[in-house]
Amino acid sequence: MADKIYVFDTTLRDGEQVPGCQLNTIEKIEVAKTLEQMGVDIIEAGFPVSSPGDFQSVVEIAKAVNDVEVCALTRAVAKDIDVAAEALKVANAGRIHTGIGSSDIHIEHKLKTTRETILEKAAWAAKYARNYVDSVEFYCEDAGRADLEFLARMVETVIANGATVVNIPDTTGYCLPEQYGDKIAYLMNNVPNIDKAILSCHCHNDLGMATANTIAGIQNGARQIEVTVNGIGERAGNTSLEETAMIIKSHSEALNLQTDIDTSKIYNVSRMITRLMRMPVQPNKAIVGRNAFAHSSGIHQDGVLKNRENYEIIDPKEVGYPESSIILTARSGRAALKHHIERLGVMISKDELDETYKKFLKLADEKKDITDDDILKLLGKEVSSKQLEIVDFEVNCTSEANSKAKITIDIDGEQHTAEAEGNGPLDASKKAIDKIMKKPVRLEEYLVQAVTGGSDDQGKVHIQISKDGIFNYGFGSNTDVIFASAQAYLEAVNKA
Ligand code: KIV
Ligand code: ZN
Repeated sequence: MADKIYVFDTTLRDGEQVPGCQLNTIEKIEVAKTLEQMGVDIIEAGFPVSSPGDFQSVVEIAKAVNDVEVCALTRAVAKDIDVAAEALKVANAGRIHTGIGSSDIHIEHKLKTTRETILEKAAWAAKYARNYVDSVEFYCEDAGRADLEFLARMVETVIANGATVVNIPDTTGYCLPEQYGDKIAYLMNNVPNIDKAILSCHCHNDLGMATANTIAGIQNGARQIEVTVNGIGERAGNTSLEETAMIIKSHSEALNLQTDIDTSKIYNVSRMITRLMRMPVQPNKAIVGRNAFAHSSGIHQDGVLKNRENYEIIDPKEVGYPESSIILTARSGRAALKHHIERLGVMISKDELDETYKKFLKLADEKKDITDDDILKLLGKEVSSKQLEIVDFEVNCTSEANSKAKITIDIDGEQHTAEAEGNGPLDASKKAIDKIMKKPVRLEEYLVQAVTGGSDDQGKVHIQISKDGIFNYGFGSNTDVIFASAQAYLEAVNKA
C-alpha cells in the first residue's frame, strides 16, 4: 500500500505574504473551504500575532472548516504562541507552527546568538506550544543551508520536547535536489527519536528547484509537503500544489506514494487563486498555464490528433482543464487544419484540403492569430463574426460599486447603443457590450500590462473568455485601460 503524503497548503500564509496578493477574511474563507474540498490535509491560515486582521482570519477559517487541520504560524516567542493558541481555540483540529533559524548565517547575523541558545529556545518553544495543542510543527528556518549535525541535534531536541512534525525549510531555495534529499535521508537515519514525528518539506523556488527538492525530500522519507496554489510565495515562490500532486499521481507506482488531493479540482482552484490574488499564471506554467495543453507544431498536432498520449502525459480532464487545444500557426500541418475545419462543421475532400492548406500557410505567415473566421474565409464560406468598432464610449464611476457605461458599437455599418451599471467600470462596460452583442460569455482571464511604464503609457489588455467550454481571446491597447479592456472583450466576444 502506498504511503500517504500529507499536503500542507500555505497559500494563505506564505502565498499571501506576496505584495499585492492580500485577501480579506471572506476571500480567505472561500479559499480555505475550496482547499478543504480538494483534499488538502492542513491549511496554514495565517500568522495571528502579525495583525488583528490576520488573527481574525485564522479564527474565521477555523470556524468555517471541519475536515482539515488549521495551522497558525508563530516565532519561538511566548506572545506569538499565546495569540496563535487563542485564534485556534475554535478549530476542530488546530496546529501551532513555531520555529527559529537553524543555519549559522541566521544564528550569527540575524539572531545574533549561539547554537546552544538556539537549541534551548527551540526546546522551550516546542514544549510551550504543546501545552496548548497536540499538533505542533517546528520549523528549522534556513535548514537548506544549516550544518547537518547541528540540524540533526535541533530536530532531536524539538521532537523530545513535543514537536509532532518537523519542517526542514529550504528557506532561500538554495539546495540541489540531491543535497536536499540527502539532508532528509541523513535526518531519517541519524535522529534517534525520528519515529515520533514526521519530516516536512518546505522549499522555495529561487533557483527554480522547489518542486524537484520537495520530491527528493519525500523520496528520502519526508511525509509532508508544504505547497501553494500556482506556486505563489515569498520572492520566486514556493513549491506548487498542482505540480507535486500531479507528480505523485503520475509516478505513484515508482514512488509508492499518494495524496488525498482530488486532482480534478486543480484547474478551478488555480483560476480562483489567480482571480482573488490578481496574480496571473505564466502561460507555460506546468499543469495550469494557458498553454499547458496547447499544441502548436505540426508534428505534435498530428500526433495528438492520432492519439492524445503521443504528446500528453496528463489527460486535461484529470486536472479539470477544459480540453487540449490545437493552435493554428505557420508550423501547423494538414491534420490540424482539417481538425479545425471539421470542428466548424465543414466536411472537406483531400484535394480541397490541399488547396486550402496552401492558402492557410500564406495567411499564417502574415498573421499571428488565425481565427475561425479566417478559416471560413479561406474555404469561401460566409463568416459568422462581424465588422465591429466602438464608436462612442462613456464611463462614469462615482464609486467602485456604482459605475455606469454607455457604449455605441458600429456593427457592419449599423450603430447600436446600450447603457449598463456595474461593479466598477470594467463590469459596467462588459454588461453594456453584453446587451448589444446578446452573447453572454464567461470572463476567464484579464491581464493588463503597461508598455513602457509612464502614467501616459499605453495599457495592453489581454482577455480570455469561454462559452460552452470553447475559449477565445481578445486584445486591446489604449492609453485608457478601460477602453482597451472593452476593445479586447468585444474582440473575444465577436470570435465566440
Ligand atoms: O520559508 C520558510 O522558512 C518559512 C518558515 C516560516 C516555515 O516560510
Ligand atoms: Zn517559506
